[in-house]
Amino acid sequence: MTARYAVFGQPIAHSQSPHIHAAFARQEGIALDYQAIEASPADFPAELERFAAGGGVGANVTAPLKEIAFGLCRTFTSRAKLAGSVNTLLRKDGYWHGDTTDGVGLVRDLTERHSLDLRGRRVLLLGAGGSARSVAPALLDAGILELIVVNRTSERADELVDAIGEPGRAKTRHWEDLHDLGDFELIVNATSAGRDRNATFELPKALVNSMTTAVDLNYGEAAIAFLAWARAMGCRNTVDGLGMLVEQAATSFQQWHEVRPETDPVYAGLRARNALAGEE
Ligand code: ATR
Repeated sequence: MTARYAVFGQPIAHSQSPHIHAAFARQEGIALDYQAIEASPADFPAELERFAAGGGVGANVTAPLKEIAFGLCRTFTSRAKLAGSVNTLLRKDGYWHGDTTDGVGLVRDLTERHSLDLRGRRVLLLGAGGSARSVAPALLDAGILELIVVNRTSERADELVDAIGEPGRAKTRHWEDLHDLGDFELIVNATSAGRDRNATFELPKALVNSMTTAVDLNYGEAAIAFLAWARAMGCRNTVDGLGMLVEQAATSFQQWHEVRPETDPVYAGLRARNALAGEE
């Protein structure tokens, strides 16, 4: 039976993953069968079983299925356990092993593509949902000095910081207190507000200094509002989530095929196709 790979999500039609993995496979001379499979949260467990029965050995998982996928794994990496969600599934001896590669993808994009030194930095993380949970541990692993997590619903920020268990470095503050936090060298928007046309949020200018890098984990239209705010406030760099998308895919690919693809040409191609939010 041919080994099959797929990305599961809902909606899935606009996912870039099939394109990215096909490009990696061409680069490495691998014949790859990688499909996009739409599944509702209710149907996903059965769809994933059907996929495995039909030769599925590796899968990516995207919204809104990452937490459900976590529950379907028998084993995980420690970073997936901390995040409580997975974006990468690997079939082992009749069960699924789960990992989350978003956080390392973000760190790789920032440190290698954007040449940022994260060590010793004060970092503000906006949001405490699935995306925030998957990037927070990787930022700490990259050697940042302090991670302040601020979420509209403060209990979720507390839960995230409790799960990390590093009270000296990872702390929470209330959204209403954003104007009292001082300025940050890195501000990461991990909220989904930009994906909701009716949602906006105001952030104080005092968060920014002339060295600040602002990152939105989204890309395309969903990243426009936050990155426009960051530029207007005088941030030094603005970075959308396209580089992280390519890097997290490369780490998934590496786990399945035991070779790390070149991400720069694939990133350049995607950037040309997604010139919307852009970067500076
Ligand atoms: P994702 O998988 O993208 O992380 P999620 O788990 O639904 O999505 O989390 C969405 C995040 O965006 C949450 O932190 C949410 O805040 P709440 O926990 O208070 O719901 C945040 N968010 C969504 N809309 C927002 C808005 N208009 N203003 C501020 N934060 C918002």
